[in-house]
Order: sequence, then structure tokens, then C-alpha cells
Amino acid sequence: MAKISEIKEKKSSLLSSGLIALTWTLLFFFLGSYLITESWTWGYRGKWTNINTYIPRQELIFTDAELSQYDGTDRTKPIYLAIDGDVYDVSQGAGWYGKGGSYHHFAGRDAARAYITGCFEDHLTHDVRGLTPDQLKGLDHWKKFYNSSHKYHKVGRVLHDPIPEDAPIPKPCKTAVGQKP
Ligand code: HEM
Repeated sequence: MAKISEIKEKKSSLLSSGLIALTWTLLFFFLGSYLITESWTWGYRGKWTNINTYIPRQELIFTDAELSQYDGTDRTKPIYLAIDGDVYDVSQGAGWYGKGGSYHHFAGRDAARAYITGCFEDHLTHDVRGLTPDQLKGLDHWKKFYNSSHKYHKVGRVLHDPIPEDAPIPKPCKTAVGQKP
């Protein structure tokens, strides 16, 4: 009997010293970060400092028509945009994506092609046929941007109607905006 109580005592003292060590480590981590970088997370702001990353939610599936209802014109609805099929809630960027914002054309649709070509009028489509591997790398940049954002979070996928095989590849446009310096 004595042995069992000794084991129990040992276990609880190990647990409490473990907890104390963890508390000190966390304290050093956050306080040290704040003192050195004036940020609680060593200057990091991204997916892991986004509260939405930790909220479990069911993936929503949209058609293009459904997605178009979330373009920010109806202020009672969140603002969604899609890139290469992945749908993100960008309501926190309403200044950019809401009505009157410089990037409103990206809201409520999957305009993957325009992210690469800068054709903000003519290429508001998910059709990325005919783009070079280098251009497609540029698309990866934007996909990462939304996926690792501190402000935005993924809500689901949009299922596009298949592009007809005989549909012409969108032509380059004259009004293309250059990539951000
Ligand atoms: C293909 C071309 C471009 C695309 C696809 C693009 C896309 C975007 C997007 C999506 C945002 C919003 C970021 C957010 O949600 O926080 C943004 C922000 C911004 N863009 Fe562009 N952009 C392009 C070209 C340019 C160019 C040429 C300039 C300047 C000459 C520019 C200047 C800015 C600035 C200053 C911001 C806000 C600050 C920032 O977040 O860095 N962009 N851009």
C-alpha cells in the first residue's frame, strides 16, 4: 500500500514540476519575444496567429453562381473569393475586396488567371490554360498568400463547370497591370 502512495506522490510531483517548467518556458517565450521584437510571437503573423485556424468547421462547397453572392455588395454576407478552387473568407480585407475596393473584382469568384496576368477586366476566370510553368509559380505565390494569412481563412471549395475543350484560351490583354514590385 505504501508503495502505491509513493508512486502516486512521485507522479504528481513530476507532473507539477513539468507544469512549472512549461509555464516558465511559455513566459520566457512570450515575454522575451515582446521585449525583443515588441510582438508576442517574435514578429510572426500568419496562419498560426489566426484564431480561425483553430476553429474546426465543415468545408463548404460552392457552385460559381453561389460564390458570386459573396462578392461584398451585400453587406450582410461575408466576402469570399476563390483561387484555383479554394474559397477564402476575406471579409477582414473589405477595404480591398468590398464594393469600391481596388481588388473588388477578385471577390465572389475564382479569378486565378487575373492574379497572374494582371488582366483585371478580361481574365476574371479560373481558366489557367496556356500559362507557362513560371506563371503558374506566380499563382502558387498568391495561393500561399491566402492560405498563410493572419486575416483570412479557407472556408471550402468551388466546383467549376468544366471548360469546354473547344473554348478558346483567353487572349493577352492590353490593360494588364504589372506584378506588385
Ligand atoms: C498582377 C498584378 C497584381 C495583383 C494580382 C495584385 C493583387 C493584390 C492583392 C490581392 C492585394 C490585397 C492584399 C490583401 O488582401 O491584404 C494587393 C495589395 C496591394 N497591392 Fe497589388 N496586385 C498587383 C499589382 C500591383 C501593383 C503593380 C502595385 C503597385 C504599383 C500594387 C500595389 C499594391 C499595394 C500597395 C497593396 C497593399 C499593400 C500590401 O498588401 O502590400 N499591386 N495586391
